[in-house]
Amino acid sequence: MKLLFVASEVYPLVKTGGLGDVAYSLPVALHGADVDVRLLLPGYRELLRKLSSVRILGWLELQGAGQMHTVRILQSHHPDYPFPLWIVDCPALFDRPGNPYLQPNGYDWADNAERFTVFARAATELARDALDIGWKPEVVHAHDWQTGLVPAFLDGLQQCPQRIFTIHNMAYGGHFSQADFVSLKLPSYWWSAEGAEFYGGFSMLKAGIVYSDAVTTVSPTYAREICTPAFGYGMDGLLQSRRYKLHGILNGIDTEVWNPATDTHLPAHYSAEQIQPGKSRNKLALLQRFGVENPEPHLPFPLLGMVSRLVEQKGVDLIINAIPDLLATTDARFVLIGAGHSHFEQRLRELATLHPERVFVFIGYDEQLAHLLEAGADMFLMPSRFEPCGLNQMYSLRYGTPPIVLHTGGLADTVVDASQANLERGIADGFVFHEPITSVLKGTILRALDCFYQPRLWQQIQTTGMNHAFGWDNSAADYLALYNKGATP
Ligand code: ADP
Ligand code: GLC
Repeated sequence: MKLLFVASEVYPLVKTGGLGDVAYSLPVALHGADVDVRLLLPGYRELLRKLSSVRILGWLELQGAGQMHTVRILQSHHPDYPFPLWIVDCPALFDRPGNPYLQPNGYDWADNAERFTVFARAATELARDALDIGWKPEVVHAHDWQTGLVPAFLDGLQQCPQRIFTIHNMAYGGHFSQADFVSLKLPSYWWSAEGAEFYGGFSMLKAGIVYSDAVTTVSPTYAREICTPAFGYGMDGLLQSRRYKLHGILNGIDTEVWNPATDTHLPAHYSAEQIQPGKSRNKLALLQRFGVENPEPHLPFPLLGMVSRLVEQKGVDLIINAIPDLLATTDARFVLIGAGHSHFEQRLRELATLHPERVFVFIGYDEQLAHLLEAGADMFLMPSRFEPCGLNQMYSLRYGTPPIVLHTGGLADTVVDASQANLERGIADGFVFHEPITSVLKGTILRALDCFYQPRLWQQIQTTGMNHAFGWDNSAADYLALYNKGATP
């Protein structure tokens, strides 16, 4: 089966969050299941700089906003990927520094509508083999709003491949104006309540939902949640009416990249069979990374960690508000890593300044440090208000770092609370709470600390999480089954 996988970021070349991880690990798993994959990406400056061998597959003339763009399609074989990468090289749109979606000042690039429309047009041309490469996909799988127009453009093809659209996060709708719609010369039949139109503008996410053959989202619970007003961002009615083609498929994780027994980012390795002394050595290294000179030899205090985009979704404010009290009443310490909204960055910095011995903060993006934190912390904080899937809680389970999570989306599908009943059944691997309120989070952290001080119990919780299988086997098979649905018998 030939699959064109279209994404706006991919680990390790360019990544802002979990989408990048999934755009790497899912196609790798599918390749392992004999799928013939091409991964199509925008030619960002940062990405092109990391590619050593590229070949030009051809040129396309594509409509932009009131102007045509000459776009080069490049192919690269990069050692990190077992399949070819295809790249849409259009310097006017993608040769820019830093983040793929945001300007250095944190605002969206003003021409995002044009950037991702041209990207989607390129995907469509490749799907019909306009360059005469001799490779035509049976399935095109697009991800999030940045690629939402791909299923919509494919709709116009005579021979349309099976179109799968995955929602990784409803919070980002790809909303643009009617003026953009007109200047991009998008097909007028899309402009309807049954098409891409959305409250007087248009939404690329909505286009993806409407024009695909199957819509997936990244956990079963989130698939149910987005059909309700609280999580649907105004598209819950639309999703309800498309329930017949909506599927919740839980993300897997890459169990090679995230393996405490082999992780090259870690100074010491460990496994479910032998957690110590490896895990404590990582704790020491993590603390030293933050300048703690002589941590006590046995490090008896609990270290609570967070790695997160600093946005409303992640409940960062709950953590920030809970910390002062926890510092006063327990011996917990905190390592918090993230980047995002400046007011969260500012408040985290203030906490670290106020409590230099017990709160350690890194503002920025650091892949290596994220691995060290997963290994070195004792518990992982992830009180997201909503979480389509969440990968960090799965990484932390695998690293013997029990997560503390709100019962929502993929967090509800992956973490089993350490209630008495679950402990007795031997299935508890974390701490789950039900209301996104600081006092409830605090109470849950205290409950976790209580378990932490009972070494045998703690080890049981750690081991249960570490043995939980979160690889791609089942989920990749679910995607394959969906892809095959469109195959002609
Ligand atoms: P989301 O995609 O909503 O950000 P996920 O839990 O699915 O949440 O995935 C987040 C991914 O991004 C993880 O791989 C995590 O380690 C990584 N990440 C987030 N923030 C940072 C950061 N500041 N430094 C390093 N890695 C980060
Ligand atoms: C999004 C979601 C996150 C999910 C990731 C990968 O960024 O916020 O929950 O894990 O996509 O699917």
